[in-house]
Amino acid sequence: MCGIVGYVGEKYVPEVLTSGLSSLEYRGYDSSGVAVITNGITKVYKAEGKLQNLKDLLAEKQDEIKDAKVGIGHIRWATHGVPNEINAHPHTSNSGKLAVVHNGIIENYKELRAELEKQGVVFKSETDTETVAHLVAKKYEKTNDLKEAVRLATKELEGAYALCIIHQDVKDTIIATRRNAPLLIGVGEGENFAASDVPAIIEHTKRAIYLDDNQIAVLKADSIELFDAENNKIQPKIELLPWEPIALSKMGYKHFMLKEIHEQPDVIRNFLSGKLHTADAKIVLDEVKLDKESLKNLNRIQVVACGTSLHAALVGKYIIEELCHIPVDVEASSEYIYRTTVTDEHTLVIGVSQSGETADTLTAVKQSKARGSHILIITNRPDSAMAREADSLIPVNAGIEVSVAATKSYVAQLMAFYALAIHLAEIKGSIEENYLKEIKNELLLLPQKIELLLTKKEKIQKCSRMYSSSKNFIFIARGINYATALEGALKLKEISYINATGYPAGELKHGPIAMLDETLPVLSILMSGKVYEKILSNAQESKARNARMIALTDSTDEKLEDLFDYVLNVPHVHELISPIMAIIPLQLLAYYIAEFLGKDVDQPRNLAKSVTVE
Ligand code: G6P
Repeated sequence: MCGIVGYVGEKYVPEVLTSGLSSLEYRGYDSSGVAVITNGITKVYKAEGKLQNLKDLLAEKQDEIKDAKVGIGHIRWATHGVPNEINAHPHTSNSGKLAVVHNGIIENYKELRAELEKQGVVFKSETDTETVAHLVAKKYEKTNDLKEAVRLATKELEGAYALCIIHQDVKDTIIATRRNAPLLIGVGEGENFAASDVPAIIEHTKRAIYLDDNQIAVLKADSIELFDAENNKIQPKIELLPWEPIALSKMGYKHFMLKEIHEQPDVIRNFLSGKLHTADAKIVLDEVKLDKESLKNLNRIQVVACGTSLHAALVGKYIIEELCHIPVDVEASSEYIYRTTVTDEHTLVIGVSQSGETADTLTAVKQSKARGSHILIITNRPDSAMAREADSLIPVNAGIEVSVAATKSYVAQLMAFYALAIHLAEIKGSIEENYLKEIKNELLLLPQKIELLLTKKEKIQKCSRMYSSSKNFIFIARGINYATALEGALKLKEISYINATGYPAGELKHGPIAMLDETLPVLSILMSGKVYEKILSNAQESKARNARMIALTDSTDEKLEDLFDYVLNVPHVHELISPIMAIIPLQLLAYYIAEFLGKDVDQPRNLAKSVTVE
């Protein structure tokens, strides 16, 4: 993952770079660094740990770097080599004149490194990136042309990269290029930018060029030139970014995660606006570009996704199968791409991804596209690489999500599945109108019900404290909320590092029950509907093994108080809608436990929000 920023212009370069990196912290945050050219010399500053360490270092060195007019910066999520100062980017050539920052993975770096070492190059770090610095430097020795050196070097690279490169002999110039990793160019007045993502530049400009794979950009303060891999000059296409400069403010909340959890009612309203106003109306989903006949004849849907998006897809399967009677397969993209999979022009393939950049999902989508499937992308980033592969695109419009743990983007993805399933059902006539009306009505009422729930957080907070010392946690559910159990467990793992697992409640007796004793909390997701009584029986099995019993329920049955040590109540909702209602207390539970344990809630260790490596 990692985030990269490049700047050439008159502003104070370290400030532009570090403020850009701040907004890319969601991509990684284990070390960071910048390289600037100051008084004709390339200087590199790196720091292990959080970005603040680099900012402190740069503040100390202010005098030495104040005249720089060009610089590149990097925030790292370690792939090759531990997160220390040596492995932090930028990496330099042996002369120290050339510096490079990189996002992605160079798959053939070992071979390249061995070859370069034979030629006398000395490596300092364990990274794949350092290979790029030396390889470009070698090509530069021969060509004396930095753009050409980058072009020749990247031809030898296998894998994924977004690169920004500077060289002290090439005055105030950045060479930027990419393949299978995001990079955009920000177009300014008398200044230009390169960055992994929009937030890093939006404060400075709303005009951008999205680089295609293998394109190379030459950035100077007053010019941008673009070339393809064969060195043909290309006319850059400047796009207007649909973004406002956003103060990434916590709005008084202690963490972004808590703020984003509270934004969920508005995310639902926002998603529904323009699509569904009353339960009597048909849903408007113009984003789906398949014609009615093709939609009626769809006989299979394949969904690919990772992490939280995979859980949204699992809920989506239930909804679509229930309302449309079309078989839906859901698979982790990382599994899907390395086996013989069967999709063709009769399969609708749905890629789900909040970032729209996840490498595994992107590859899965590309594979299916090559086989002729219609590609529908559900994402929070309509400007992402995945969105650009889409035949149909449903932007979920959750707004920027800063916290690494996905919350509001998950709920927005679920909304996309409800809308899609209702739309398909209305076209196919696959379900009784009254039933659809009931579901639509429930969706419209959902924001107020969640708001009500959010006013009663204290009980969840208290419960979190009580269970925060647990080393393990089990979440059980059945039916449509099995995915909620998985997502609840994932949230807890991600931010509190407690070992949490979600099980289909009926599976408890086939193994996991052996772990139960008086130390283990078992949280039962008991939402009214078809499987309520079944889960209750499964919960009894845990009670008989002395487990610590927690219920999450929309039932008002007082008997639950006898069976469970702790009952978390949520407002009643229709079973088909219940995954949205049920996930909110589980997000809060994970949040409060992590906060109580003093964890870094918004930037949990080892994780990144956008995973652009396979
Ligand atoms: C990372 C994030 C998760 C996310 C997953 C898939 O691991 O930390 O929160 O669910 O990637 O990301 P995507 O952007 O494809 O939804």
